[in-house]
Amino acid sequence: MHVLPEIRTAASALNVLLVDDDPMVLRSLGRLLRRCAPEIQVATANGGLEALAYVKSSATDVVITDINMPGMSGTELLDRMRSSHPDIVRIHLSGEQSVETAYRSVPLAHQFLAKPVESRDLLGLISNMQKLRELLQDREIRALVGRADDLPAVPRVYAELTQCLAKRSCSYGDVAKVIGQDIAISAALMKVASSSFFVRRCAGNTVEEAVQTLGLAHVRALVFTLGTIRAFAPRNRRARAWIENLQSSALLATRIAAAINEDDPPGHVTLAAMLHDVGQLVLMDRVPEKYDAVMQEVERTGRPLHTVEEEQLGVTHSQVGAYLLGLWGLASPIVWAVARHHAASGGSSLERTIRIAVRLCAEIDNPASDFAPTTLIPPESGTKPDELDEWRAHAARTAETLMSA
Ligand SMILES: [Fe+2]
Repeated sequence: MHVLPEIRTAASALNVLLVDDDPMVLRSLGRLLRRCAPEIQVATANGGLEALAYVKSSATDVVITDINMPGMSGTELLDRMRSSHPDIVRIHLSGEQSVETAYRSVPLAHQFLAKPVESRDLLGLISNMQKLRELLQDREIRALVGRADDLPAVPRVYAELTQCLAKRSCSYGDVAKVIGQDIAISAALMKVASSSFFVRRCAGNTVEEAVQTLGLAHVRALVFTLGTIRAFAPRNRRARAWIENLQSSALLATRIAAAINEDDPPGHVTLAAMLHDVGQLVLMDRVPEKYDAVMQEVERTGRPLHTVEEEQLGVTHSQVGAYLLGLWGLASPIVWAVARHHAASGGSSLERTIRIAVRLCAEIDNPASDFAPTTLIPPESGTKPDELDEWRAHAARTAETLMSA
């Protein structure tokens, strides 16, 4: 469990509701929670119906529910809660290690906890939820992102891949088999592997060869990204063109980021660079008319996208994207690199990498960019002018390669 770094704003106590049919489990989990985080408010419910009645009348931020309960199952409770209270973060708690059970609740739960719960995992989870809530203060906006019917859940193939990679005996063949179940993702992965996207180009034509060429960290990141982008269907021509630009911009940013960054795991760099603008997809999907007005204003005036978003929506795509990735439990350096990709300066090595990659993309006049092409990169601590020139030249070469691919 990764723990997000501290953020500045103070917040009221987090309200957590524990649901289990076993009073012993409720008592011990409640004790563990209070010991781990004495500042949070803990309530308990003895089953699904009691939980639904509770959230109707009491402020609740997070619900942690057992899955195997008599009467209303945890899966049904999660389903009903996502419709009635989409702003509440839903955590699946299960003693079963069955993949099928986990999958049934993949579209319903934001995160998963296994019994017996380790205090470290619980503390990490609660701490992350607290900070994520502070990232998006507005309950309505949180509801927009965590909403029910068309919730962009963690892509199913990604969840299965994570399970597969957790096994010691996992081979390239096993990974290929998992990915092979999803034809669209396999096709997209093959396309990326055989293009000049990565330095090593895959000469073969099987998913297994593509997996070997790209390496597991990149494959995992790509499967996640491809599944995520697919979850958002553009609703009009402007949105379609915008998404196409976003994708090519994400590819370019990923190549640049990989060249700049030497300190972070490659999977983190790929995910943060590819998904840095995922908040735009969420907003386009959730508030299509309002976001269309934002896009029009940006196209008409050339003003930075995040400034117009802030003015017209009261939230930016950086915040929304980071919130979604945090809800899905992605590693904290990725969440914060996405949250701060339009910040002025500072932050971790990954934040700095993504910020520079995004700005270099803008400089070479990528139409998907939300910076004016003439934007200069502000002095970043530790960046030498020679280094910047080198990256700038690399960005221009990469853009040419990608365009001719
Ligand atoms: Fe952005």
